[in-house]
Amino acid sequence: MIQVRIWDWPTRIFHWLLASLVLALVITGNVGGNAMVWHFRCAYAVFSLLIFRFIWGFCGGHWSRWRQLACTPELIRQYFKTSAPPAVFLGHNPMGSLSVIALLALLLLQVSTGLFSDDEISNAGPLVSLVAESTVSLATSWHKGLGKTLIILLVAVHLLAILWYFLKKKQNLTIAMLKGDKSSEAPAHSSQDGPANWLLAVLCILLSAGLVYALINLGATVG
Ligand code: HEM
Repeated sequence: MIQVRIWDWPTRIFHWLLASLVLALVITGNVGGNAMVWHFRCAYAVFSLLIFRFIWGFCGGHWSRWRQLACTPELIRQYFKTSAPPAVFLGHNPMGSLSVIALLALLLLQVSTGLFSDDEISNAGPLVSLVAESTVSLATSWHKGLGKTLIILLVAVHLLAILWYFLKKKQNLTIAMLKGDKSSEAPAHSSQDGPANWLLAVLCILLSAGLVYALINLGATVG
């Protein structure tokens, strides 16, 4: 077996920060009150991470790129037909690819609706003043209701899938997300993971955070 670098450092840091921040968002959102200050801060951090991950999908390590997501109908069929996954599934397998897209899209929708949400007591998103009241109430009801529930459900499915891989397929995917490497029977393309990529990742996250900063200040400037 050959060890192949699958998840570069920036993708791993992205993943564990995202997981911790989503947990913090659920807790602070449920606690409410003074914890909402941290709910807002964590949400801006998640927003920056999501923009970072979008950009990283074009310039990150080989297996973090969008084109490596294996979810064409042909690959899905191949995945369920063959017992040994081909090298193309060394990154995300087809089910993993679909769940990653769903999770990232739902998180993006959740932070976006948060910007326009208003609890009508003491907390309002920074862009509330830019849209009509009906939009605010739609955004708020999604953000506090279905959006939140779907994310919790998808995270639960994510964790159950990882547990299933561990128990039934004897594959420890978590180790790969921690250490970066997976074992492969045949030589496979490795993700680049060196100082040049890390520097690029720092520039990408700074750009992402800058975009979020500009966006959340738009409400104060325009409104
Ligand atoms: C709120 C919690 C979590 C969220 C929102 C989350 C989100 C994600 C996302 C977006 C990816 C795709 C990574 C990428 O391509 O950039 C991913 C992959 C992964 N996550 Fe999580 N995650 C969470 C918790 C966890 C936990 C607790 C574990 C381990 C126990 C875990 C293990 C993994 C693994 C192993 C992968 C790679 C799966 C594969 O090989 O296809 N995640 N997660």
